[in-house]
Amino acid sequence: MAAELLKKKKIAIGISGASGAVYGIRLLEELAREGAETHLIISRWGEYTIERETSHRLETVKALASYCYEPDDMAAALSSGSFPVDAMAICPCSMKTLAGIAGGFSEDLLMRAADVCLKERRPLILAVRETPLSRIHIENMLKATDAGAIIMPPIPAFYMNPNTLDEVVTQSVYRIMDKLGIPAAGAKHWGSSD
Ligand SMILES: Cc1cc2nc3c(=O)[nH]c(=O)nc-3n(C[C@H](O)[C@H](O)[C@H](O)COP(=O)(O)O)c2cc1C
Repeated sequence: MAAELLKKKKIAIGISGASGAVYGIRLLEELAREGAETHLIISRWGEYTIERETSHRLETVKALASYCYEPDDMAAALSSGSFPVDAMAICPCSMKTLAGIAGGFSEDLLMRAADVCLKERRPLILAVRETPLSRIHIENMLKATDAGAIIMPPIPAFYMNPNTLDEVVTQSVYRIMDKLGIPAAGAKHWGSSD
């Protein structure tokens, strides 16, 4: 019964052109494993970083999602609040996409879908990635937070003693899944025995 309920969860996933495309790919893999229905938007520069940073082919990444949309398709389901997604994560989230969300400037479907999540009061997780951060970046994070987004940079928890880069990536993805309301079966939490 619980598994059936989880299967019905609709999660919007954005992969933008910040470094760390592997986080978005791992998130898609893990959500598929948990039986979630995923709706994917990859920005043009997200496509570039997938090709530049990973060994995955773009089509293989798209195939991990239940549904995939072009970033310029403003008529797609995710563009409307009447399409009932449960939550959205942009992973990784560039400073440009963050700026668009913080400013309410929905230039593409990725920003529009995030804007919809905020106006519909749905969870929106932004796995922002940049370093160092300018005052503009920090102000935009504050604006997005004030509007209801969860700013969640993929920063490793070294107290979990990760041994490999793969473990570092998975650890952050599991934290994001907790926030999406779809905890991963294998997730380890500090202070718990499993
Ligand atoms: C290899 C590569 C790595 C990048 N890494 C980052 C990054 O970590 N953070 C960021 O904000 N922008 C980064 N950028 C710049 C963004 O891709 C650029 O601002 C782009 O316009 C973002 O558009 P999008 O948000 O629509 O994907 C990177 C670009 C390239 C080519």
